[in-house]
Amino acid sequence: MLKGKHIILGISGGIAAYKSVVLLRLLIKAGAEVQVVITPSGKEFITPVTLSALSGKPVVSEFFTANTGEWHSHVDLGLWADAMVIAPATANTIAKMANGVADNMLVTTYLSAKAPVFVAPAMDLDMMAHPSTVRNIELLRSYGNHIIEPASGELASHLVGKGRMEEPENIVKALERFFASKSDFAGKKVLVTAGPTYEKIDPVRFIGNYSSGKMGYALALEAADRGGEVTLVSGPVNMNVSHPRINLVKVESAKEMLSACESIFTDTDIAIMCAAVADYAPKHTADRKIKRETSDVPVIELVKNPDIAKTLGQKKRDGQTLVGFALETDNESVNARGKLESKNLDMIVLNSLRDKGAGFGTDTNKVTIYTRDGRELPFGTKPKEDVARDIIDTIMTL
Ligand code: PMT
Repeated sequence: MLKGKHIILGISGGIAAYKSVVLLRLLIKAGAEVQVVITPSGKEFITPVTLSALSGKPVVSEFFTANTGEWHSHVDLGLWADAMVIAPATANTIAKMANGVADNMLVTTYLSAKAPVFVAPAMDLDMMAHPSTVRNIELLRSYGNHIIEPASGELASHLVGKGRMEEPENIVKALERFFASKSDFAGKKVLVTAGPTYEKIDPVRFIGNYSSGKMGYALALEAADRGGEVTLVSGPVNMNVSHPRINLVKVESAKEMLSACESIFTDTDIAIMCAAVADYAPKHTADRKIKRETSDVPVIELVKNPDIAKTLGQKKRDGQTLVGFALETDNESVNARGKLESKNLDMIVLNSLRDKGAGFGTDTNKVTIYTRDGRELPFGTKPKEDVARDIIDTIMTL
């Protein structure tokens, strides 16, 4: 899969840089052409001589060669690449990438790169867990970058926790998988719903739920990376996405979500209903804030919201694929199969709130997929990006 591919290997300054040598060897062995770009502090950990000997190319680190004045064009490099891999990506480099601090060759190349970017963080567990690192990694995700999650284990500090750079073999596998599946959604029109819906009680209050949008946004990115033209209809979430093939449509209520979905469904090949749509909405929305001082405890009459998946299921025609989710707390598989039938879905993705690391808000999910042709496919707990890949892979088998 990597034969002839142009890959930029970005190395920043961390102990895990020694693993980058193995990664470089594996990439070369797999037939890739690799250009190493290393930060000044990366060179403290691993020498350019080793890297250039293995890659067969001079290592790029500075903007120009001091004695000749030769300029190294980060723009040309960015255009040359089929993929850029930053391994190890330190907290410092991640922060610079997230915020566009272009003070070294690696970050300027990253900012110029048009190709997909894979980021393999490596740092101590406390740095990894710090809200600033967490936010910066989220920002990279929202730019469409692929985060290769670090593993847990013994770290350079001898502390044990999450922060070990993923093993080079697995980074190569992630690249191979990416290139293998890269275009299987090409030309497909994909609709993804994500996040919660908010149903207004008055101008300051609403009925909603804990959906963060992470699962739906990961699905939209995976479908777009694989060539799909994606419309992401999102309820109110604290996430953003920037991808040339994702059209983000923001809505608030279930009715707005239904109308956004209905308006494009006829022109959709694959619809994935990941949103946690509120099943009920207040019958009346107060124009002004309901005041504690001037009213008794209010009674809020509820009405049923439209079932978006079911509505699309009734309109589905041959050749269209409709995928739903089931979020359950009990009787999981019976309920999931029931929804597969009643909503006329082709496939349903069950996640249970009884499973640790599954469902709302988490970075991971644990799902079982049920297909209309009778398959039941259980998966382990994994990052939502990987779950998205499993879901899209399974859609391809329908
Ligand atoms: O956003 P995250 O924090 O990452 O969390 C992800 C998730 C838990 C929200 C997601 O994985 C998930 O399970 N989404 C579906 C949640 C849900 O509403 O499940 P449900 O079993 O109530 O609904 C079944 C299906 O019908 C879903 O596809 C849902 O989108 C759809 N539905 C439900 C109600 C309704 N009124 N209209 C609908 O279209």
